[in-house]
Amino acid sequence: MDPRSEVLLRQAELFQGSLLIAGAPADGLLAELPQAQAWTWHAGDQAQLLGRFPGRCHHGVDAPQVPFDSAVLFLPKSRELAAYLLNALASRLAGRELYLVGEKRGGIEGAAKQLQAFGKPRKLDSARHCQLWQVTVDNAPVAQPLESLAERFELALPDGPLHVVSLPGVFSHGRLDKGTALLLDHLQNLPSGHVLDFGCGAGVLGATVKRRYPQSQVTLLDVDAFAVVASRLTLAANGLEGEVISGDGIDAAPQDLSVILSNPPFHTGVHTHYQAVEDLLAKSGKILRKGGEMRLVANSFLRYKPLIEAALGNCETRAEAQGFKIYRAIRG
Ligand SMILES: C[S@@+](CC[C@H](N)C(=O)[O-])C[C@H]1O[C@@H](n2cnc3c(N)ncnc32)[C@H](O)[C@@H]1O
Repeated sequence: MDPRSEVLLRQAELFQGSLLIAGAPADGLLAELPQAQAWTWHAGDQAQLLGRFPGRCHHGVDAPQVPFDSAVLFLPKSRELAAYLLNALASRLAGRELYLVGEKRGGIEGAAKQLQAFGKPRKLDSARHCQLWQVTVDNAPVAQPLESLAERFELALPDGPLHVVSLPGVFSHGRLDKGTALLLDHLQNLPSGHVLDFGCGAGVLGATVKRRYPQSQVTLLDVDAFAVVASRLTLAANGLEGEVISGDGIDAAPQDLSVILSNPPFHTGVHTHYQAVEDLLAKSGKILRKGGEMRLVANSFLRYKPLIEAALGNCETRAEAQGFKIYRAIRG
C-alpha cells in the first residue's frame, strides 16, 4: 500500500463518512474505507481503480459532481495543481473537513501552508516519511474555473507563431522545455500518414506537426487528464484538428502508425519511472507500419539507443545539444 494511504489508515476513524479521495493512488485504500470515492486524473490509476472498485472512481479535471462530507487530497508534485485542487475541494466543503497528505520529500510541509487560505491547518500525523494535515473550511472559496489558470504563450516557429495553452500540473507549465525545443528543430522529412505524439503534455509537438504536415492525421496521447485538456486547447488555439486520447502507455495508442514522436516521460511525481518509455521503445516495432519512423528526444544520459536498436534494428543519433539527444529509427 502507498505509504500515504497507510498514514490515512492510522486515523481511519476520521474517514468513515462519505469521503472524496482526490489524487487517489491505485492501491487498496478504498477497500478499507467503504464509503469513500476516488477522483483521479491519471488514466492508468483510473483503469486499475475501476477494475477493483467499479462505481466508486471518477476521472477528469473537475471534482466529481457526487456528494461528499469531507475530502482528502494526495499532494501532487505541482504547486499550481495543488492550489487548483485544494480550491476545487474547499469550495464544496464550507464548515467541513479538508485533509492533505503527502510525502516529506514531496514538499508536504510547505504545501500545507496553502491550507491557511481556508482556516487554521493542523498537522494530525507524521509517519512513513509522510504527513497528514487537516483544516476545517471556515472560508470556503469560490471555485476557480480551470481555464482561468491556463498559461498561454507563443512559440516563434519558422512557419509562424504557435499558441500554446498549458494547465497546472502539465509538463513544463508555461514554458517550452529545452528537449522539446530541440525536437522542434528536427521535425524535417517526417513520413506522411498517421502521427502519434506520445506523452503530449500541452500538445506542442502534435500541434506543430499537424500544422507543418496538414495531410497527416495526428493523434496526441497522455496519461494525465490535465495534459489532454491542455492539448485540446492548444490545437483549438491554432485552429488545428487532432485526436487527443487519454490513456496509459503505448498500449492505448492506435496501430499502423507512420510516425511516433515523443519527448518521453521518465518522472512521475517524486519517483522515477522508466516503464512507460521502455514499453514504448519495445513495442514501437509492432505499432509502426513498415517504413514508419520513431523520432525521440531524451536526456543524453538516458541509455535509450540500445533499447531502440533492440526493437527496430537501427537507431541514428541525429543531433545532440544542451544535454539532449535526438534519436531517429526506421521500421524496416
Ligand atoms: C517529458 S513530458 C513531454 C510533454 C510534451 N510532449 C512536451 O514535449 O512538452 C512527458 C509526458 O508524458 C506523459 N506520460 C507519463 N507517463 C505516461 C504514460 N504512461 N502514458 C502516456 N503518457 C504518459 C506525461 O504526463 C507528460 O505529459
